[in-house]
Parts: sequence; C-alpha cells; structure tokens
Amino acid sequence: MIVARFDSIKDWEHFVDLKREIIQLKEQRVSLRSMVEDITKQLKIEIEKRESIEQELAKLGRLNIIGQLAAGLGHEIRNPLTTIRGFLQMLKCKAELVTYTNYFELMIEELDRANAIITDYLSLAKNKPTDFKRLHLNKLLENLSPLITADAYSQGKKCIFEPGDIQDLEIDPHEITQMVLNLARNGLEAMPIDGCLTIKTFMNEQDIVLSVNDEGQGIPPEHLSKLGTPFFTTKENGTGLGLAMCYNVANRHNAQIDIDTSQNGTTFFVRFPNQGSHPL
Ligand SMILES: Nc1ncnc2c1ncn2[C@@H]1O[C@H](COP(=O)(O)OP(=O)(O)OP(=O)(O)O)[C@@H](O)[C@H]1O
Ligand SMILES: [Mg+2]
Repeated sequence: MIVARFDSIKDWEHFVDLKREIIQLKEQRVSLRSMVEDITKQLKIEIEKRESIEQELAKLGRLNIIGQLAAGLGHEIRNPLTTIRGFLQMLKCKAELVTYTNYFELMIEELDRANAIITDYLSLAKNKPTDFKRLHLNKLLENLSPLITADAYSQGKKCIFEPGDIQDLEIDPHEITQMVLNLARNGLEAMPIDGCLTIKTFMNEQDIVLSVNDEGQGIPPEHLSKLGTPFFTTKENGTGLGLAMCYNVANRHNAQIDIDTSQNGTTFFVRFPNQGSHPL
C-alpha cells in the first residue's frame, strides 16, 4: 500500500483536486467512448443505406436502358410483322391454297399475339399520348367479364364481378382494359384450381376504387418493393411487364395502386381520384 504524505493542507487540497479531476476524466472517457460507438453505428447504417440506394440507382439505370432498347426493338419488329401478316392474309384467300386455311389462320393469330405483346411493351413508353374518355368503369368491366370468366373457367377457377354504385370517370378505355386484364391474369395465375377471383368497384369521398382480389398464397414481403419494376417476374414464362404497365397506366390517370396481401390472398386496389358528380 502506498501512503501519501503531505507537508501542508495546501498539498492535501491539491491532491484531492487532482483526484477529482482524474475521476471526472475517467467518466468523460466512458461517455466519449459510448458517443463514438453510437456515431460509428449511425455511420455504418448511413453507409449501408447509401450503398443500397446506389445499387438501386444503378439497377434502375440498367433497366431504363433495357426498356429503351426493348421499346426500340419492338417498334422496328412491328413493320416486318405487318408485311408478313398482309402476305399471309392474301395467300389465305387463294383458291389453290384453300386446304391450308387453318394453317394460315393459326399463323395470323400467332402474329397478332406477337403484336399484342409488343403493344404491351410499347405502352410502357412514358410519353405515349393518352386517349381520355368520360365513361363508366362498370360498363368497361361488363364488356370484359366474358373474357375474364372464360379465362378463369379454362383454368378451373371462378370469377365474380361486384359492380358498386360509382360515378363515371375520365379514363383511357384501352389502357384501363389492359390494366384490368393484367391484374385479373395475375390473380388467376396466383390461385390454385377452384380459386375465386373477385373484381369489385366502389366509391368513397376521395376515390373511385377498382379492386381485384384473389385467393392465392400472397406476395412475400421481399418481393413487394420490386413489384412494378420492369422485367421483375417469378414466373417461368413471365415477362415481368404486366405490373409495370399497370403502374404506368395508374400514374397517367393520377390513380394510386395499393396492395393488401396475406397467406389467404392478395387484393390490388386501384384508386382513381373522385372527379366530382357526373352520373351517367
Ligand atoms: N396477385 C398476385 N399474387 C401473387 N403474386 C403476384 C400477383 N401479382 C403479381 N405477382 C408477382 O409479381 C410478379 C410480377 O408481376 P407482373 O404481372 O409484372 O409479371 P408476370 O405476371 O410475372 O409476367 P407478365 O409480364 O406475363 O405479366 C409476378 O411474377 C408475381 O411474382
Ligand atoms: Mg402478370
């Protein structure tokens, strides 16, 4: 043990002051260390955030280039397709080729399908003009219902339409048709046999809502943020453009898409701003 000796009271007081300062310094060191640890943690989080934003930006840049390329290619491929379709149409009408009529019809149908796919790609182009008409969403669904019901039936599934009491809207009928078909097709594809797809319309003060509900297994949380990114697909034969198109169409109509998903199924809500009272 070291015993300190002091020659005077002053020395003793000086010693006590020094001791106190040392204790304070020790306390400061502890709090400084925890401050440094906190700041390091925050910095790490910021760096991780920054890295993920940079990765996302790089991905968006690549997708943008792919999208532009696809749109350019699609546009160019359409012209030769139109020529081929014209010749097939002409040959189909020749009396000496009448035995091949079925083949010609099949080829023309396939060309039309290819053309429809290209139309979907091109509709992703942002500056495409929109052809707005004031019409009733229920009327549009009424026209589409036989098509969707037949699609559901061919897969051993059901489809129910529940049109609500809604007002008419300024919409581009072609674009909204594509959107409903894509949402319905996704819903049907997500469900097992016997599943039921429900398409509804309803209205509240702010919105006129179209909802498409399926009885599938839901969308995993890690996929939710990727929905609508062009070419994101989990399907073997999917192109991953369906939802990208839907988000684009919704955007052009100032509408918002919300998703409610669980293991019991998924509902896509398309909320159009209520544009006031214009009943049909
Ligand atoms: N109703 C749904 N239930 C479960 N998953 C869904 C649903 N709708 C979309 N998804 C998921 O989102 C992905 C992207 O959908 P999207 O419609 O954009 O492309 P796709 O259906 O894969 O291909 P396609 O371009 O032919 O429509 C799907 O592959 C699927 O994983
Ligand atoms: Mg799809």
